[in-house]
Amino acid sequence: MKQAASIDAERFQSYAKLVFGALTGALTAAMVWLGDRLGLYRALADSGPATSEELATRTGLSERWLREWLQQQGAAGLLEHHGTGRFGLSPEGVAVLADEAHPAFGVGFFSSLPQTMALLEPLLESFRTGLGLPYDALGEEGARSIERGTAPWFRALLVPLVVPRLGLRDALERGMLVADLGCGSGHALAALAKAFPRSEFHGYELSRHALARANENRNAEALGNLRFHDVSSEPLPDDGRFGLVLTLDVLHDMTDPAGAARTVRRAIRSDGTWLVCEIKSYPSYEENVARNPMAAMMYGTSVLTCMSSALSEPGGAGLGTLGLHADLLRGFVEQAGFSRFEVLDFGHPVNAFYAIRP
Ligand SMILES: C[S@@+](CC[C@H](N)C(=O)[O-])C[C@H]1O[C@@H](n2cnc3c(N)ncnc32)[C@H](O)[C@@H]1O
Repeated sequence: MKQAASIDAERFQSYAKLVFGALTGALTAAMVWLGDRLGLYRALADSGPATSEELATRTGLSERWLREWLQQQGAAGLLEHHGTGRFGLSPEGVAVLADEAHPAFGVGFFSSLPQTMALLEPLLESFRTGLGLPYDALGEEGARSIERGTAPWFRALLVPLVVPRLGLRDALERGMLVADLGCGSGHALAALAKAFPRSEFHGYELSRHALARANENRNAEALGNLRFHDVSSEPLPDDGRFGLVLTLDVLHDMTDPAGAARTVRRAIRSDGTWLVCEIKSYPSYEENVARNPMAAMMYGTSVLTCMSSALSEPGGAGLGTLGLHADLLRGFVEQAGFSRFEVLDFGHPVNAFYAIRP
């Protein structure tokens, strides 16, 4: 090892804090997973602040384990300490950690934490071979986690804001064909299918776990105007039948996003609309870091899931979570034969939206 230059005591302290702050984050994330899975946030949200004894009575769980968990969550700043061992959620905490109907609900993204971390071992091999893993490597919980993570966003945005902004409300009310490529568990299409019963909705997915979940959700809600297709055996039709095509947080995960743009072009009507939702990102690393306060989290997500998926076939594009910025997307869609490209701003902190038309 090369001899280190002399160490500055102050900088050393803050650097060590940074490193152990990362470990704190990882362990706090594990505690969030436990709190969600054990229903502890919901118990605190429903019945207010509690001591470990009170929380044990409410949940039937072991007091000693709850006491340690409450103290960790208090020390991490996720729970408020009201004195004498009583901890509770702030209203903001309820929105992010307990209320699945709130657009800011964020715990969904923690749901597959154990499965995601279990990929670290197989990913050692990916660093050697260059080949990544598809979403199905995360098992059933991967699909559930994406659904719980992204559904609150799209429920809040799609029907109330995006459809009117695209000027498609009347056409959807009259009846049109809609496709969602990379539909995951189909929650976005399900919201649209409920709102527009005269239209017909088709989801296309690669992941068998996501497809199983999508069909389960569709059957539970008895949505007769919604169908899902395994894209490996039933690809998006190429006869220009769809009035609206969605790709929601999916193009950067694909091994061939430029090819997907060509596929969408063949599938869409000449007066149709392609709604793209992508993670907000910028052409340079410097800009991504300066403009995105969650850049470190997203580059990590990229290695563990997004870039890995986009490299899961030889020759994959491997764009990564922050790799599909507006200029690159515009290039793909122009080459695919689209001529209109509009950036839509719904004030979302993470996602950028684009309306693309032939
Ligand atoms: C981040 S998830 C987003 C899912 C969904 N659109 C949502 O917003 O919840 C990305 C999805 O894209 C799917 N995917 C990746 N490549 C695909 C391809 N070539 N065709 C169809 N789906 C694909 C993955 O299986 C995964 O379910």
